[in-house]
Amino acid sequence: MTAHLPSQAGAPAAGPGRAGFQPPAVIAFDRVSKRYRGGRLALDDVTLGLPDGGSLGLVGESGSGKTTCVRLALGLDRPTSGRLTFNGAAYPAGRGGLRPLRRQIGFVLQDPYDSLDPRMTIRDVVAEPLRIHRLPGGRGRAADRVVAGQLAAVGLPGADLRSYPSRYSGGGRQRIAIARALIGSPSVLICDEPTSSLDVSVQSQIVNLLLDARRERHLSMLFVTHDLDLIGRVVDTVAVMYGGRVVETGPAELIRRSPRHPYTRALHDAVPADHPRGRRLASRGAGPLETAGAGGDAGAVPPASQDEAAAGYPAEPGGAGLTGAAAHESCIFASRCPRAQDRCRDERPPMIEEDALRSYACFFPLPEERMADDGRV
Ligand SMILES: Nc1ncnc2c1ncn2[C@@H]1O[C@H](COP(=O)(O)OP(=O)(O)O)[C@@H](O)[C@H]1O
Ligand code: SF4
Ligand SMILES: [Mg+2]
Repeated sequence: MTAHLPSQAGAPAAGPGRAGFQPPAVIAFDRVSKRYRGGRLALDDVTLGLPDGGSLGLVGESGSGKTTCVRLALGLDRPTSGRLTFNGAAYPAGRGGLRPLRRQIGFVLQDPYDSLDPRMTIRDVVAEPLRIHRLPGGRGRAADRVVAGQLAAVGLPGADLRSYPSRYSGGGRQRIAIARALIGSPSVLICDEPTSSLDVSVQSQIVNLLLDARRERHLSMLFVTHDLDLIGRVVDTVAVMYGGRVVETGPAELIRRSPRHPYTRALHDAVPADHPRGRRLASRGAGPLETAGAGGDAGAVPPASQDEAAAGYPAEPGGAGLTGAAAHESCIFASRCPRAQDRCRDERPPMIEEDALRSYACFFPLPEERMADDGRV
């Protein structure tokens, strides 16, 4: 297909002198597609950029392709087509080539129960990136000092280094995961639904911890969530994803308060059940936002193989043989869109740059409006 490429969201083509100039992208997706074994098109011509020192949010319901973006950004998977770069250079092939790049990326995944090896002590879990990347402080007494300092920095001062993650609640485990993500002093932090499996009462503590870390360490941050309200608090720029496509991008607050794409509006209207606005977000199974074009949730990054677990990264998915979601030339949201017309079913809407800041892929966008916090116009 021939989508117009937006210049914002840190897209690779942005440069000095262009309207909407953004810093160069540390991680850039340039027309990236990913088809899993079994035929599932998880990403379809995605162009995105994480600006150096900036923050980018990916938001969308389950199955929209967010975790696939994360897997590609971590170097766990390769695109089927398109170009993926880190600081302007293509991702190297092979584990050895990826190692220096991975050293620069810390990550926090959705489920701290899955992402921390229950057989490892907290000391070993947190120090592991130092050992893998042969950084100082990975072993012996030095490791005790470094790990204790890192745990204190994430709100776990005096933690027993010889205890196991199972001693901690979900929030405590996620703090341990954050300590581990930060201990190697990465330049990029990738968070894939880091609060989705936590009690509401601890969600904002963890978000604040991540935001403090980002500010203090000048990290570039890629933050993934299904919660449009949350993303507005966390990142500068948002890309809304649906069915493997980016359907709208722009400044987080603008996208949240005045969406132009009907899917963004639907996402705004379908807030999580535990949100003060009190309506439901269909995340798994049936619901108003269960996808027609998109597949079901593949959950967080799948479990690690021994080898990649040892490297601190989960394994490539086994390829469950999913089928469907052909890359048809129509609007991916047409079957659910209240504004759909014949053209939407016959033609794929290109990305339209509304201005230097915002783009959307829709033939009949919503009029500009301001929504109140409760969703009323
Ligand atoms: N290992 C895999 N094999 C086949 N299909 C997959 C695999 N992982 C994810 N998918 C499919 O790719 C699509 C995008 O999934 P994912 O990136 O996990 O979305 P999200 O994180 O937004 O929920 C879904 O249709 C999902 O079922
Ligand atoms: S292109 Fe058509 S179907 Fe797609 S979101 Fe816009 S109005 Fe709806
Ligand atoms: Mg996911």
